[in-house]
Amino acid sequence: MNATSIAFAAGLVASLLFILSLAGLAKHETAKQGWTYGVAGMVIALAATFGLVIDGRPGVGLPLLIAGVVVGGAIGLWRARVVEMTGMPELIALLHSFVGLAAVLVGWNGYREAAQGLVIFPLDSLEKIHHAEVFIGVFIGAVTFTGSIVAFLKLSGRMKSAPLMLPGKNLLNLGALALFAIFTVWFVISPALWLLVVVTVLALALGWHLVASIGGGDMPVVVSMLNSYSGWAAAASGFLLNQDVLIVTGALVGSSGAYLSYVMCKAMNRSFISVIAGGFGIEAGPTGDIDYGEHREILAEDAAELLASATSVVITPGYGMAVAQAQYPVAELTRQLRDLGVEVRFGIHPVAGRLPGHMNVLLAEAKVPYDIVLEMDEINDDFPGTDVVLVIGANDTVNPSAAEDPASPIAGMPVLTVWNAKDVIVFKRSMAAGYAGVQNPLFFRENSRMLFGDAKSKVEDIVRALSRVPV
Ligand code: TAP
Repeated sequence: MNATSIAFAAGLVASLLFILSLAGLAKHETAKQGWTYGVAGMVIALAATFGLVIDGRPGVGLPLLIAGVVVGGAIGLWRARVVEMTGMPELIALLHSFVGLAAVLVGWNGYREAAQGLVIFPLDSLEKIHHAEVFIGVFIGAVTFTGSIVAFLKLSGRMKSAPLMLPGKNLLNLGALALFAIFTVWFVISPALWLLVVVTVLALALGWHLVASIGGGDMPVVVSMLNSYSGWAAAASGFLLNQDVLIVTGALVGSSGAYLSYVMCKAMNRSFISVIAGGFGIEAGPTGDIDYGEHREILAEDAAELLASATSVVITPGYGMAVAQAQYPVAELTRQLRDLGVEVRFGIHPVAGRLPGHMNVLLAEAKVPYDIVLEMDEINDDFPGTDVVLVIGANDTVNPSAAEDPASPIAGMPVLTVWNAKDVIVFKRSMAAGYAGVQNPLFFRENSRMLFGDAKSKVEDIVRALSRVPV
């Protein structure tokens, strides 16, 4: 058996391990097992690549491969160790951009090899397929590259999260797609270098524009959509490099990312097509200059008194709880209130925080019992019978305009209807807008009071005040 067939067999085993990994990661009971399968698959795929290089033309390839693995592995290990959970989505977006860039480089190299006669095509049709693979691979890769960079900039707050509203933005996107289709046919018939340059520039601009046109509230879907694009970009590279494992893995990432985007769109009541088409049909609503009146404040001591006299309390955490790392005092507060005989439950919005399941992980980490942590749909009907809601570092996910203002950029997105409770206490540091960049009328309602300051220290203040309340 030669090295190519061993590598082919290893690729198949790695592909199977990746499928098992995805299946394992789908449930938290089997997530660790899934992770192990994924690592094993990656090690096998890497070993097979080394085998192929050693057996083929080791020359400069082997030191380059070793350097790539050592440098890339070291950076990956370092990032994985230092990244905060709140920074995960932006790190993922950045990693997607690398996949896109790699696909562009692989495509360009595929063009070079064909142009220099380094690849032999036994049939004319195979040469045409090769050119189509180059062109499509470069296009998907370049869209993924700039799209992911914009997502990274928006998620890390380096770029405004409000949607870019260029005049005729939908026409621009459609025009770019039409040009791509025409140029693909042209390139397959006559593979001129200038066409490849043009499609690269066009796709870079399209990727940038697609993601820049999407508002902050839809960013979770964008991240999973870019995940899907990066998968298709990898699959396109797999065709060019003749690597089955890359085709299978790319298709797995591409289809699972697309499915996740679809599920998230449904959860957020968004049109899937509208989001993947760069906010197609979404118009910018008024942002932040409506006068909602005056807000009122509350001190930690008064909040503690209100809580101690309540029968039922619901806590709705958001991104701010993660930033402040307030989950530990929140768990302590929960224990105290339950000791006082108060019913305490948590209401978790599907996109609270910065990645799916973010809040559930933080609360589990702080040992909040699972059975009092409820999904949005399970808790929403109970707000009218709730005495006090503590909104801890959440904003968009509790914004009544989503339900009440059809002109709002987040209109139609399901939200936790906290304003139906008797009293609402909002923990945040200022009156600033949330991630979607829209003001929240909840803060100005009759039954709402603001508790300004860092969520962790404010919850600690309440815990201290409550510890003075006799049980
Ligand atoms: P946000 O709407 O982002 O609001 C978080 C609030 O926390 C902010 O208004 C901020 O106000 C406050 N805050 C920040 N640091 C704080 C601190 N140390 N102490 C107290 N408060 C603090 O959060 P959300 O309600 O969780 O909504 C999530 C948003 O992120 C949605 O728009 C969602 O679409 C988007 N998103 C979600 C995901 C996923 S998949 N979950 C991924 C990407 C984006 P101050 O600055 O005034 O303190």
